[in-house]
Amino acid sequence: MYNQFQAMVIIMFDIAFIVLARAVHVMAGVTWAGATFVLAAVIVPLATRHAAEGAGRWMGLIASRAGMLSGISALLTVLSGIYLFAALHPHDDSTGGLVLKVGSLAALLAMAVGIAVGRPTGRKLAKLQEANAGGAAPSQDAIREMSALRMRAMMSARVATGLLVVAVLAMSVFRYVAAIG
Ligand code: HEM
Repeated sequence: MYNQFQAMVIIMFDIAFIVLARAVHVMAGVTWAGATFVLAAVIVPLATRHAAEGAGRWMGLIASRAGMLSGISALLTVLSGIYLFAALHPHDDSTGGLVLKVGSLAALLAMAVGIAVGRPTGRKLAKLQEANAGGAAPSQDAIREMSALRMRAMMSARVATGLLVVAVLAMSVFRYVAAIG
């Protein structure tokens, strides 16, 4: 008979659990990458370009929703990815395994950029925009600070996008690279 720990290990590596983790991983990964691409290519540039016409506040609200979606799906992608790594590729030294590692690292770095730069910048910008949303025109200092924060948000979204492009490409090809050459 199995002890409690052995029983837990058997359930953890059960095929049904692996299938569930793959489904969560791909769904969350697609949502994370998609939300980040839209942030970097559409929302942040429009907020920056049309800030003077009052678009900054509305775009900021949209960005904070997209940011939340991206953050939750990033967490699900990384947790399910780490589990899949432990369950299916613990000592994978093949070319495909190396590509998988590079993709995973790129995705982890994208998450770090989001946590360290994107999220705090977005929150600070949203606070400033709320504080200056009343009738009176914002001060020159506030305008300068908001503009610097928008630039930082743009950089962070672009860097995260670049890293996620690497992650998505690696994830999509790792299984077949060994067959190429
Ligand atoms: C935006 C980020 C990510 C996306 C879009 C993504 C997407 C995918 C997709 C589509 C697959 C299936 C590929 C196939 O079976 O041919 C996959 C597999 C895998 N991913 Fe990711 N992934 C992401 C991030 C990560 C991260 C951060 C990790 C680990 C920390 C990870 C670990 C894995 C592993 C180990 C597999 C192989 C599963 C298996 O062999 O069945 N992924 N990923």
